[in-house]
Amino acid sequence: MNSGKDINYAAEIIKQNQVVGIPTETVYGLAANAYEADAIIKIYELKQRPHFNPLIVHIPDISFLQQITMHQPEVLLKLAEQFWPGPLTIIFNKKEVIPSLVTAGKKTVAVRIPSHPITLNLLKLLQLPLAAPSANIYGSISPTSAKHVIKNFGNKIQYVLDGGNCEIGIESTIIMLNDDEKFCILRHGGISEEQIKKVTGYTPDTFINPEKSISPGLSKSHYAPSIPLFIGSINELLKKHHEEKIAVIGFGKKYGDIRIIYQADLSSVSNLNEAAKNLFSTLQQADNSGADVILASLVTDAGIGKAINDRLQRAAYK
Ligand code: TXA
Ligand code: MG
Repeated sequence: MNSGKDINYAAEIIKQNQVVGIPTETVYGLAANAYEADAIIKIYELKQRPHFNPLIVHIPDISFLQQITMHQPEVLLKLAEQFWPGPLTIIFNKKEVIPSLVTAGKKTVAVRIPSHPITLNLLKLLQLPLAAPSANIYGSISPTSAKHVIKNFGNKIQYVLDGGNCEIGIESTIIMLNDDEKFCILRHGGISEEQIKKVTGYTPDTFINPEKSISPGLSKSHYAPSIPLFIGSINELLKKHHEEKIAVIGFGKKYGDIRIIYQADLSSVSNLNEAAKNLFSTLQQADNSGADVILASLVTDAGIGKAINDRLQRAAYK
């Protein structure tokens, strides 16, 4: 597979209804023309993703919402204006032009404008909506570099736009309006509860592990490494686990134990943004370290820390 920064080449592939790997500020995506069911089906096949799990649609600018959504409630536009381009995904009622394959049969569509300049330029050049889930096999660790995408899909996709390491490193926050016209968070991510509160005036409800009918992709188990991962106090976990080879993922701390063959600190200065940026690549490395088990500590449960803890909890062994 090729990788590089050629957005004209990427645009040509998209126009042929093929799939391209794209960088975003959150994680890398597997993108195709959201208007073309023939192209979208390829995303589901590549990811081995169940068809009940809808995709996020990426658009070039706010006015593009009119082309794909029925109406644009003012409260939603206010959040879009504040946080787009950026890691916030908003649920709208969809227009017919978006095939039901994209939304897994739902009447709503999840939309965002990504802020990575390469992908933003691609969107502006194409003037098409791009459906793009994270570029990983369903249920596995999300990719934060072009290298991860190549490792996941090899020659099965023609091209990956290489935009370097993802700046944020964790997926977008997904929000929707409830029946009572209040916001609710379906997935914690790059925009924190606190940031949303500043715009809306209240802390939105969190709807983690919502009913499948509301957000089908938010299964309890996700982002899983191939070896078991346990979360908790590392010192306690070290006492409980008797494996010979252990990988440890800490937050602002180092641990001493002869069995530790891989040790990473998500942020030596306990900075949550840095921890988010390092999370998925650290999980990949721990997974490939030759250890029998990964022990990880949770981070401070505030700001983007909520998203980090959510991903660690879903990645943990059940
Ligand atoms: O940061 C991100 O959001 C990345 C980048 C590539 O933009 N994308 C991403 O996509 O994380 P994916 O497919 O891995 O996760 C999309 C999530 C799924 O959990 C899905 O269930 C939910 O969005 N979703 C999509 N459409 C929805 C809808 N209409 N209603 C509720 N949830 C929806
Ligand atoms: Mg994903």
